[in-house]
Amino acid sequence: MFNKRILSGVQPSGDLHLGNYLGAIKNFVALQNDYECLYCIVDLHAITVWQNPKKLVQQTREVAATFIAAGIDPKKNIIFNQSQVPEHTQLAWIFNCVARMGWLSRMTQFKDKAGKDKENVSVGLFSYPTLMAADILIYKATHVPVGEDQKQHLELCRNIAQKFNNDFKKNLFPIIDPVIMQQAARVMSLRDGSKKMSKSDASEFSRIMMSDDPKTIEMKIKKAKTDSKPVPDNLKDANSRPEANNLISIYAAINNIDNKKVISEFGNKDFSFFKKQLAESLVNVLQPISSEINKLLSDTNYLDRVISSGSDKASKIAKPVINEVHECIGLLKT
Ligand code: ADP
Ligand code: TRP
Repeated sequence: MFNKRILSGVQPSGDLHLGNYLGAIKNFVALQNDYECLYCIVDLHAITVWQNPKKLVQQTREVAATFIAAGIDPKKNIIFNQSQVPEHTQLAWIFNCVARMGWLSRMTQFKDKAGKDKENVSVGLFSYPTLMAADILIYKATHVPVGEDQKQHLELCRNIAQKFNNDFKKNLFPIIDPVIMQQAARVMSLRDGSKKMSKSDASEFSRIMMSDDPKTIEMKIKKAKTDSKPVPDNLKDANSRPEANNLISIYAAINNIDNKKVISEFGNKDFSFFKKQLAESLVNVLQPISSEINKLLSDTNYLDRVISSGSDKASKIAKPVINEVHECIGLLKT
């Protein structure tokens, strides 16, 4: 009863890294040929923690530029900005009244980001997942491509849709399916194989940025943590060595092959040799994207036009849905 529709979001909270690319954006590109896709720059999520206003505008354009440079066609898909479509926040408020405190209290991303300072973080950081559910359900999207770390938020989105549909006895919202590609769903830090690659890690050497030049990529891969043994020659051994496994997974994902194939090619070879090949593959894929990003960023008018025309298109889908919701719960239509 619901048409297949894809929606995903990326925060403009800093430069994008290899985890964002392999875990999310690369999959966005693959999905665009078969489905109607909406890709949202979620600036309202970014401000749940402090953002420098001047940088935030620029970072919003950078995410749009990265989407386009990675291969998302803005004519075929809707690339847009969350804060330009007010229906997201309208629905998020309603979902704040549907979601339960207990559900949100269990979110591991909130616990990680709040750390020991729970009393002092913004209320927005706590209710972050209700806005994320609104991003998805305001378009009645059915499929959401994300990295592994977002699984729990998508489960919450399903719970919200289910509770809403039950409370108001109407099949208004779809129960979404997460689309988590197995490969590189979780790219780990280059310094610590137990932590995910993240823009908030203090060490620059923990991550490859989309904007890194070839020399920087080579240096970061060279310095990436490994153990003293050669490249694993079987999957079991690889699985017990997180840092080695991470580099194997990155090589596999960037070359569109599976881990087994990487192991059969490089098993028992020196890491220094494997790392050279890995750096070369990364440069080959990332270099054209980063030079295209720079080209696009020099034309802010173009980027702003793409984003606002995307937001107009998104609004056209969102408006009737918010009206349907209002009618359902006894609010006057907008
Ligand atoms: P971050 O998690 O770096 O703050 P976002 O929250 O904007 O970035 O995430 C954008 C997308 O990138 C999400 O789909 C998320 O699951 C994915 N992602 C982020 N980090 C990783 C990672 N280390 N491995 C795989 N996917 C990731
Ligand atoms: N929370 C997601 C992240 O941190 C970003 C996001 C916001 C999102 N709204 C979304 C992802 C809707 C998918 C769908 O990565």
